[in-house]
Amino acid sequence: MKRLPRRPAARTPAELAGAVPDPEFTILIDSRPIPALPGQTIAAALWGAGILSWRTSRVNGVPRGAFCGIGSCFECLATVNGRPNQRACLLPAAPGDEITTQEGDGHGTGLTR
Ligand code: FES
Repeated sequence: MKRLPRRPAARTPAELAGAVPDPEFTILIDSRPIPALPGQTIAAALWGAGILSWRTSRVNGVPRGAFCGIGSCFECLATVNGRPNQRACLLPAAPGDEITTQEGDGHGTGLTR
């Protein structure tokens, strides 16, 4: 009996699904370019770049990032293309998107203490 050649083990979700994603593109976080893949959310792209926090809380100014990842907790709010309070875990990244670290309520009114 002839043995079939061994396939390398799939290591990424894309490999497991046999997906061939389109080429990556660049988005900006506070003017710093990071890579994103088509279909990836802004939160996923930020996580992929090792960025875990992209806003501060309204009450104490503590760092916040994604928590639930499904649009329920609102911890992932970011200013995207000049629009504050966008849920980064729900927004697909688009080429050239500019994400700005959001402070407080995102409207420049300062923190509530
Ligand atoms: S991480 Fe919870 S709403 Fe985005």
